[in-house]
Amino acid sequence: MTNFQIEINHSEHKKEKPESSELVFGRVFTDHMFIMDYTAGDGWHSARIVPYQPIALDPASMIFHYGQSVFEGLKAYWTKDEKVLLFRPDRNFHRLNQSNDRLCIPHIDEEHALQALKELINIDREWVPKAEGTSLYIRPFVIATEPFLGVAPAKRYQFIIILSPVGSYYKEGIQPVKIAVEQQFVRAVQGGTGTAKTGGNYASSLKAQEVSSQNGYSQVLWLDGKEKKYIEEVGSMNVFFKIDGEVITPALNGSILNGVTRSSIIELLQHWNVTVTERRISMDEIKEAYKAGKLEEAFGTGTAAVISPIGEFFWQDEQMIINEGNTGELSKKLYDTLTGIQKGEIEDPFKWVQEVELRHAVSFR
Ligand code: COI
Repeated sequence: MTNFQIEINHSEHKKEKPESSELVFGRVFTDHMFIMDYTAGDGWHSARIVPYQPIALDPASMIFHYGQSVFEGLKAYWTKDEKVLLFRPDRNFHRLNQSNDRLCIPHIDEEHALQALKELINIDREWVPKAEGTSLYIRPFVIATEPFLGVAPAKRYQFIIILSPVGSYYKEGIQPVKIAVEQQFVRAVQGGTGTAKTGGNYASSLKAQEVSSQNGYSQVLWLDGKEKKYIEEVGSMNVFFKIDGEVITPALNGSILNGVTRSSIIELLQHWNVTVTERRISMDEIKEAYKAGKLEEAFGTGTAAVISPIGEFFWQDEQMIINEGNTGELSKKLYDTLTGIQKGEIEDPFKWVQEVELRHAVSFR
């Protein structure tokens, strides 16, 4: 690894920490944050950990006008033997660079990003929550900071990592969620930005999300942008179906997000010798399976949501109640195993977790 120096400025005012058992998703932030700047010609520089604070940006900064930004989401977990574990962080930083590519943002050294993250978590280690179902959500993101109103890739950026102790993403927790199948709006088309983690994908999902939540649904299920026939993903999760014993998930087709939890679930199922297939699957097929009594389970997967059982789909004015609205056996087993591995309570045959060492080496203070 090349020499990477991080300047550290400790916060003098420690914030009050919330009770672990009262945590929701994404409302509370820790005492510090990581920042690094990019300037064309100089590359990434000035890596620093500073007290968590607002950032001052020129109102002409390109992020505000053309949305040139990418982000990631990953988690750290507190274990019973007082270790802090990260789940597949290398995957997230790799995907950050894939998103950077799509958005014409310069690559970040993935090892440096991981080193910075471990350093930051170490400083804010006491913020990793301990209660059942909680974790430290990590949000790395890059924004275009050059003040310029022309439409072009920016020449200046900031890479920032913030940390948030969280509870479950959905108010339902591990209870099944109700999902409306979106028939009017689309999330992404092939050739678009659907595979990138960029804010615009989420901004354009809000309208459909708003309508569905007014009707009592937690999220929408997106269909393909061309024929509105084939299943893509759920608002903030990839989606899986168990039909007649076989697990099926939409194949990565150029408009679906390549979820880290998605690929972990596929690997886990293969490890258990459960048939799991990545292929194109239509809503018609789901309905047929439902009518034939073969739609046994459905669940979403994502870092924020972990495994979220789906108890109902609403499509073409009809409800499909899955497994009588209860969490399926396989969904529960996947949830228990994945969270067990993440928290170091179950053996990790895949080497997915890595420890944030208590005294991670600090390059520069
Ligand atoms: C995640 O699961 O980390 C995500 O990025 C979803 C987020 C939009 C809440």
